[in-house]
Amino acid sequence: MLAMATITLESLREKLKEWKGCELHKTANPVLGEGNPQATVMFIGEAPGQKEDELGRPFVGAAGQFLDELLTSIGLKRADVYISNVVKYRPPENRDPLPEEKEQCMPWLMLEIALIKPRVIVPLGKHALGNFFTKLSISSVHGQPQKLTDSLTIFPIFHPAAALHNGGLRQTLYDDFSALKKFLDENGIPTS
Ligand code: URA
Repeated sequence: MLAMATITLESLREKLKEWKGCELHKTANPVLGEGNPQATVMFIGEAPGQKEDELGRPFVGAAGQFLDELLTSIGLKRADVYISNVVKYRPPENRDPLPEEKEQCMPWLMLEIALIKPRVIVPLGKHALGNFFTKLSISSVHGQPQKLTDSLTIFPIFHPAAALHNGGLRQTLYDDFSALKKFLDENGIPTS
């Protein structure tokens, strides 16, 4: 009988380096998610930017700094949570990812979710939200928990980069993170 190889985050990371299933691999470096393998809360962004491409890590540029501040505002550290992206490579000039790029990269995100088994998934912005709900718009559901099953809730929040372009959204993001904290506390979901 063949022994089943155990999939781990580290083995995923290695496999992604060899993968050629998305054309973006020709122009950018692979960026898998990172964080606590036992995280109860998983954040999902859109796609790596320039800094993420250079360092091979998610959310390490300006949007990532703001995400760190938002996490701190509710008593969380990056090391408590898991942070990933829909698309695993930087699109040229940071353009929006194409539908086929999102589809092609989807298996990697599904494997990350299967390994982490989060209780709460936070899609950051419309691209990540679209993975779960194609008919909901981020403007109408941000900050509102969308219960999928007893053990998994989707909690959409605007993308932190949106507040870098539109300062008015900063407070909305802080408020939505507070709502996330309240949801975690009320549902007895531990975060570390
Ligand atoms: N924006 C994203 O959506 N993801 C990153 O990793 C960085 C910026």
